[in-house]
Amino acid sequence: MTSQLLSPPPTTTAPVQQSVGQRHLLAFNANDFQDCFSRRPFLIEHRLCNHPLFEVERILELARALPVSCIEYNAGKLPTSIDARLTPRNGLSVDETIRRIEECESWMVLKYVEQDPAYRDLLEACLKEIRPHSEQIAPGMTHAQAFVFLTSPGSVTPYHIDPEHNFLLQVRGSKTVRQWDGADRSILSEAELEAFYTNRGRNLEYREEIAEHAWTFDLQPGQGLHFPVTNPHWVQNGPEVSVSFSITFRTPDLDRRAGVHRVNAGLRRLGITPAPVGDHPGRDWYKYQAYRLCRRLRPGK
Ligand SMILES: [Fe+2]
Repeated sequence: MTSQLLSPPPTTTAPVQQSVGQRHLLAFNANDFQDCFSRRPFLIEHRLCNHPLFEVERILELARALPVSCIEYNAGKLPTSIDARLTPRNGLSVDETIRRIEECESWMVLKYVEQDPAYRDLLEACLKEIRPHSEQIAPGMTHAQAFVFLTSPGSVTPYHIDPEHNFLLQVRGSKTVRQWDGADRSILSEAELEAFYTNRGRNLEYREEIAEHAWTFDLQPGQGLHFPVTNPHWVQNGPEVSVSFSITFRTPDLDRRAGVHRVNAGLRRLGITPAPVGDHPGRDWYKYQAYRLCRRLRPGK
């Protein structure tokens, strides 16, 4: 096992709770899941490395069928930290980018690939194995979505946060993932969370002083990694083409949390310093009810 953990050890890959055999796509340690899900990263294993849905020709077919809005790609040699609006294009078409991924120094994500029935079936089969464990911690799995990442050797995914429960399954090539504790306000501030939940972008400004606090994983084919919601991370490809399958879902507790952050953003705009989310659960409840009421009175806001 090459994965390395620099600070508090949330997991190892063994012993597995499920065996990677005929009946299962995923394998993970049930204790790791209970201890870490939605809080800290932990490694899992999967058996998708030789799955035909991740061959280049099939990914090309998928890309041609997806709406243009579901394909995002750009130059892959990026700094750790960049404003998403300034990300350089690679000057190629989608087809060319996929066919030339070995040498075109690009980063590509195919989003919401569950629109294709074959990928939806695979997503659902994976989530079926996760659901019995996640429901005990964050009930109400909804918004199942999947993403295929195709990236050139050495490409970088800049430092950012995401809004969903996520398991990133490494299918081909390797990736170094650095992930930080999103609950640590010296790493990720309330103001950054409020900016994220009010649609001001997912990329964050990286500060060198947080480097020593990262959990670092060298993900290899057959391994997967859990990303708790809004745990900051950045990713660097190894020296080969990388293909990853990201399976995500949401739960109602995330909606509540997002709503309170949005209310806090509004309070901060009024010059009030709001109590951090989670410090006063009762107050959070009132804020969320106010948020729901506003949404009902002003749909789309
Ligand atoms: Fe991400």
